[in-house]
Amino acid sequence: MASAPASGGDLAVIGAAGKTGTALVSALAGRSSVRRVVHTARRTGDRAVDLETGAGLIDALSGCRGVYFIAPNVHPDEPALLRRVLVAAVEAGVEHVVYHSVAWPYTPEMPHHLDKARCEDMLHTFGGVRWTVLQPCAYAENFGAVLDGSVDTLEVPYDLDAPFSFVALADVAEAAARVLVEGAAVHHGATYELGGPEAIGVRQLCEQALRPMNPTRISVAEWEDRYAQSLSGDARTRLAAMFDFYDRHGFVAGSAQLRGLLGRAPLGVAELVRAM
Ligand SMILES: NC(=O)c1ccc[n+]([C@@H]2O[C@H](COP(=O)([O-])OP(=O)(O)OC[C@H]3O[C@@H](n4cnc5c(N)ncnc54)[C@H](OP(=O)(O)O)[C@@H]3O)[C@@H](O)[C@H]2O)c1
Repeated sequence: MASAPASGGDLAVIGAAGKTGTALVSALAGRSSVRRVVHTARRTGDRAVDLETGAGLIDALSGCRGVYFIAPNVHPDEPALLRRVLVAAVEAGVEHVVYHSVAWPYTPEMPHHLDKARCEDMLHTFGGVRWTVLQPCAYAENFGAVLDGSVDTLEVPYDLDAPFSFVALADVAEAAARVLVEGAAVHHGATYELGGPEAIGVRQLCEQALRPMNPTRISVAEWEDRYAQSLSGDARTRLAAMFDFYDRHGFVAGSAQLRGLLGRAPLGVAELVRAM
């Protein structure tokens, strides 16, 4: 990345220990001083916060010039979490909040997408802080165990040929790092859609795995029975709505803005597998 950092202050990543946050913290290594803002502290220097109450947020963000907010997956009330982050960011004097949204946020049939649309609106209108939105499509790494050959079966509850613009998480993290490091002076007011370079179904994705295989379609009820036992009722309802939407429409997104942020073509699934 050739971009010059904005001056002064740490960068904070909220959700730093999760799948997305881990990739972003790696992409930021060597570019800035980074605060891992987490729920459960695991390493020296981790800042523990509770997004459900806001406890610890102001301390965790004080002295930071930029904050990247990654909400827990399919949370029942993501706008309430973002509001706490924004209140704390303003109180702590943070210049720039980057929000990890999703492609197609305004999709009323998918409640967790719609919550992200509400979050984007809150960012636009909150005041007191400058902002940027990143809208990734589905990560190819959601199928990581298939791609790297560590499993030889896959069951999904939607059309195996519904098209997705699977995006490499490392590319999303690289783009996010650039936005966070360059800061509000370059990226305030921007919304970047981050899709991968192709639109393919899960069947085609599986054909490109290290050990190519045939996925199986199951019903949403079977999926809930086999894979969702530990999830809350709310999360199951949200995911069922998502699967129903995927089945009928797929989930495609443009890659031009990601290409611009990376300064190169985003990785396709085959390239991602070759790099494993
Ligand atoms: N997967 C995709 O394809 C995709 C695509 C686009 C957008 N997204 C979005 O990406 C976001 C993150 O997904 P992910 O899979 O990276 O999430 P994840 O791995 O589940 O990580 C979420 C993090 O949230 C933290 N957390 C949970 N409850 C908390 C609380 N009360 N206070 C503070 N932190 C708390 C956890 O911290 P601890 O580990 O410290 O407990 C966890 O590390 C979601 O909003 C999702 O919608 C995902």
